Parts: sequence; structure tokens; C-alpha cells
Amino acid sequence: MTYETATFLAQFVRHPFTVGAVWPSGPALARDITAPVPRTGHPVVVELGPGTGAFTRTVQQRLAGRGHHLAVELNRVFAAHLARRHPGVDVVDADAGSIGALLDVRGHRYADVVISGLPWAAFGPARQRAILSAVTGALDPSGVFTTFAYRHALVLPAARRFRRLLATNFEEVTVGRTVWSNVPPALVYHCRRPVRPAAA
Ligand SMILES: C[S@@+](CC[C@H](N)C(=O)[O-])C[C@H]1O[C@@H](n2cnc3c(N)ncnc32)[C@H](O)[C@@H]1O
Repeated sequence: MTYETATFLAQFVRHPFTVGAVWPSGPALARDITAPVPRTGHPVVVELGPGTGAFTRTVQQRLAGRGHHLAVELNRVFAAHLARRHPGVDVVDADAGSIGALLDVRGHRYADVVISGLPWAAFGPARQRAILSAVTGALDPSGVFTTFAYRHALVLPAARRFRRLLATNFEEVTVGRTVWSNVPPALVYHCRRPVRPAAA
């Protein structure tokens, strides 16, 4: 067992409802979920719920020193681990719902790509809505939001509710292939053209 996996497991035992998974994601899922990170230019990439960094490494490889990679992690142990492992990543120990304010203080109006590792199916309706609306508000109109779901959990009411919420928050939602090699198997939602609530 790697240090990352042991850390992940230990944090799951302590915080099952926010960690939301027993095992970190694998490299094939990391490739699919980070695919929208452009290989040119200087994009602003935000990772929500990076955990022990299963996607972080792949984002860093794709960026190759360009742009700004902000990682927002609620769990202090994960955030400290990530900051040690990835000195090139701007790691913040904060709630994903504060994405807009975090971008603001860094001088960014929008993120070009938002990648989520958040356990949406473990969140109640209000939390799902609040974080997703923070994401749509922080995403560039031509930006991309990716997030994953476990295949076996798609039938759960919270997962179905989240899928419906995606459809109301983005004009386009495409569902990627099932990554059977991931433990457990998972798929990626690719969401484009955020729908922002009309200003009052
Ligand atoms: C299912 S794990 C995914 C970790 C990693 N991305 C992976 O795929 O292996 C969910 C992660 O989201 C973090 N998390 C949960 N709620 C959060 C929130 N409101 N804001 C930021 N991070 C959160 C957890 O601490 C955990 O690291």
C-alpha cells in the first residue's frame, strides 16, 4: 500500500462523509477527467477536493509549468500533504464553495477549467446546489467543468439529483466512457457553457 493510499484510508475512517471514498482514484480516471486542461497557453485550472493528489499529478504534467493551478481541499491532512508533494500547486485549505472568492484574491475573474473530485453523492441537496452554483459563477463562459461519479452509485437518489442539477447548470453535459480499471469503476461528466442565474 502506498503512503497516499494509507493516508486516504485513514482520513476516510475519520471523515467518511466528506472524503466519500475508501480509495484514491486511479491513473486512467485521472487522464479522462483532466483531458480539458489545455496543453498551450496559460490557463487557470482549479481542482476541487484533490485529496491525496490522484488528479493533481496529471494536471501538473499537462500544464508543464504554465498557468495557475489552484487546489481547494477541505481536509487539512490532505491539504498539507498536497502542498508538500506539489510545491508548484497553489494549495488552499478551504471549502469548494469559496472558489469565486479564492480566484478573486488571486486576480482571476474566471477559471478556464474546474476539475472536481468532490463526493457529490454524499452531499445533501442544499450543499450540491451551493457548490455547483459557485462553480458555474467562477467558470469562464467557454470553460469546462469535469467531475466523476462511481458507476455502481449512479442509481442512488443523491447521484440522480446531482445529474439533474448538472443539466440545469450547464447547456451541455456529456458522459464519458466507464473507466472499468478504476476502483470502483467510474465515469466522467464533461460540462460546458455554464448557465448563470439571471441578475435580480
Ligand atoms: C472522493 S475524494 C476524491 C479525492 C481525489 N480527487 C481522488 O479522486 O482520489 C473527495 C475529496 O473531496 C474533499 N472535500 C469534500 N468536501 C469538500 C469541500 N466542501 N470543499 C473542498 N474539498 C472537499 C475531501 O476531503 C476529499 O479529499
